[in-house]
Amino acid sequence: MTDAAHQDLIRDQFTRQATPFSTAAPIANEAALKLIIDAARPGPDDRLLDLACGGGIVVCAFAPYLRHATGIDATPAMLERARALAAEKGITNISWQEGEVEHLPYPDSAFTIVVTRFAMHHFLDPAAVFREMVRVCAPGGRIVVVDTYVSEDPAKAAAFNRLERLRDPSHARSLALAELKALYRTAGLGEPRTSFYELRDTVTNLLARSFPNPGDDKKIIAMFETAITDDSLGIPVQRPAGSKGGDTLEYAYPVAILAARRR
Ligand SMILES: C[S@@+](CC[C@H](N)C(=O)[O-])C[C@H]1O[C@@H](n2cnc3c(N)ncnc32)[C@H](O)[C@@H]1O
Repeated sequence: MTDAAHQDLIRDQFTRQATPFSTAAPIANEAALKLIIDAARPGPDDRLLDLACGGGIVVCAFAPYLRHATGIDATPAMLERARALAAEKGITNISWQEGEVEHLPYPDSAFTIVVTRFAMHHFLDPAAVFREMVRVCAPGGRIVVVDTYVSEDPAKAAAFNRLERLRDPSHARSLALAELKALYRTAGLGEPRTSFYELRDTVTNLLARSFPNPGDDKKIIAMFETAITDDSLGIPVQRPAGSKGGDTLEYAYPVAILAARRR
């Protein structure tokens, strides 16, 4: 797939997902946001950039702790949500920018915290985006990546990525934890600090905020069901005791928060 075709998929999906994604409880979860803020250690002089900021949840969570926060995203409908969220919270130290994160429109060392959440798996070349994150981060600043990660077992990783591509055709590839850590080492930042949590929800809720191609929802439910017994997705999936049918399936996506200082 060409970069342009992939960007079309991104804009198509996230124009439709803008409201359901940005208002989903596990996405807006404040305890999880607090873990990200703790990892970045913001102070009153910091200038933050959030790549692929979507509906602005991360930017708005950080803004009270620092001087200025900027969110950049390729999908105008997501940025509309971000503006609305900032207005609703009365936050004014924020800028929003429409653009693609592969070529950030900022000079070297422009920010002191550079973060991206739930987006690495949408990038065709995550290493190139990570290099851009490092470029725009000042020495001593913090670079924070938050994303779901796949099993180190290649078959389970491939199955999880197949599932996610069916659910959201703009999914490129979720990385394994070792691959996420390698982004930092390859860029000369050493071993990142890591913390973890699980993004838990029901498959019904997940599908309610997803826009798979027609008919693929049944394949998705079948993959989750199979994974209850054979762990084929490499993530926890269960049907709560006493319940029946696909609409009660529960899953937990593992999420890693990685952080290191720019040297
Ligand atoms: C799953 S959402 C995450 C939004 C936000 N980071 C959050 O955690 O709430 C992914 C976002 O990445 C954006 N995106 C994907 N690829 C992008 C790219 N190459 N450049 C800019 N934005 C991109 C989409 O428009 C979408 O808003």
